[in-house]
Amino acid sequence: MLTQAPKGTSDILPSQSGKWQYLEGLFRDICGRYGMKEIRTPMFEHTELFVRGVGDTTDVVEKQMYSFDDLGGRNLTLKPEGTSPAARAFVQNGLFKEMQPTKMYYITPCFRYEKMQKGRYRQFHQFGTEIFGTESPVADAEIVSVAADMLEAVGMKEVELRINSVGCPVCRAKHREALKAFLEPKYGQLCSTCQGRFNKNPMRILDCKDCQKIVEGAPMMIDYLCEECSSHFEEFQSILKDMDIPFIVDPGIVRGLDYYTKTAFEFVSTKGMAQGTVCGGGRYDHLVEQIGGPEPPGVGFGMGIERLMLMLSEEGIEVPEEASVDYMVITMGDKARSFGIALARKLRKKGRSVQMDMMGRNFKNQFKYANRIGAKKAIIIGDDEVAAGAFSVKDMETGEQITVSAEDTEQL
Ligand code: HAM
Repeated sequence: MLTQAPKGTSDILPSQSGKWQYLEGLFRDICGRYGMKEIRTPMFEHTELFVRGVGDTTDVVEKQMYSFDDLGGRNLTLKPEGTSPAARAFVQNGLFKEMQPTKMYYITPCFRYEKMQKGRYRQFHQFGTEIFGTESPVADAEIVSVAADMLEAVGMKEVELRINSVGCPVCRAKHREALKAFLEPKYGQLCSTCQGRFNKNPMRILDCKDCQKIVEGAPMMIDYLCEECSSHFEEFQSILKDMDIPFIVDPGIVRGLDYYTKTAFEFVSTKGMAQGTVCGGGRYDHLVEQIGGPEPPGVGFGMGIERLMLMLSEEGIEVPEEASVDYMVITMGDKARSFGIALARKLRKKGRSVQMDMMGRNFKNQFKYANRIGAKKAIIIGDDEVAAGAFSVKDMETGEQITVSAEDTEQL
């Protein structure tokens, strides 16, 4: 028990973290190209933020939150997603008073008490982006474009973009009536959770995994869009075409969180994987207002990092490791060792990544180790070399070897 991490969590080991850092670096770089800056919000928030923001009839709030009372009697929840905390910070810090739009990104752990499956965990990580303060469909398209750039940059091919519009409170009211009329005769067949949703939030039933058969043929939101939502959706599609981003209109995309209005989208595996949604997002024009702030609208996405890695490995794509070893200093003899230690320190101060043996390996095994850790070059030092005031540097890939004078280490 003590040596087992809780179910649904995993360690990112030193051997894996290079891949994470590579993806994080790529994501930061891409967000920077769009003028997005990082936001870091606390790991926990007042529970009420998610109840109001995400919605009290969603799976996340009904079944999956890690909520607890702290010693001061506050009810808090580990963040199950990043959008509500970003919206809270946007309001609390008065960012809405600054020049708009406000563009931000985050890299964060999220916590959901889920049924464990491949690609579905209790602590997972998201890359996320949000743009607050504009209704323009250009923002929706830029958000999609960040995700598309990220997936393209890592080389993912077997993925497609599915988009939909989930309308606004005006057109949703009409759809809601039509949906209720459709579901009423089937009420008895609905799962108990969805029976509870029938009056409060019937659209959630479309998203329930257990009720998929029952909702077949149900009226779709896209057929009830008001003029404003419809023209927003048209314009969004037209900008995606300008950006040369292929998409499929899928009226079945409803998303699992309640704050969405108008645009909803998902990047989905074309391989039919069970947990095949690598990225999901959309517009949320009333979220800020719902949590007690002013009116600014917003749009964003969340991309599951574990899921991204899983899908990349299904496609046979190796994520490169950011960290690399510039030099392995290989020494033989005591004088060589102390010379090597001084040289390694000097090179590290210059910003090179340098490793030395700590296990008492012989010369041959130090070379083997250099290969194993992927060192680019080996610096080979023996006592004779120290006496001669020079040593060898071997390129581990080409095998080319040069002699470097101890006086002239600037070139390393
Ligand atoms: P979401 O669809 O709940 O949206 O999550 C976004 C992504 O996080 C999913 O597409 C999936 O890749 C990953 N994910 C979700 N749950 C899990 C899990 N249990 N295990 C592993 N990966 C998971 C949101 O969270 C919204 N905040 C996205 C957003 C931002 N919408 C607007 N702005």
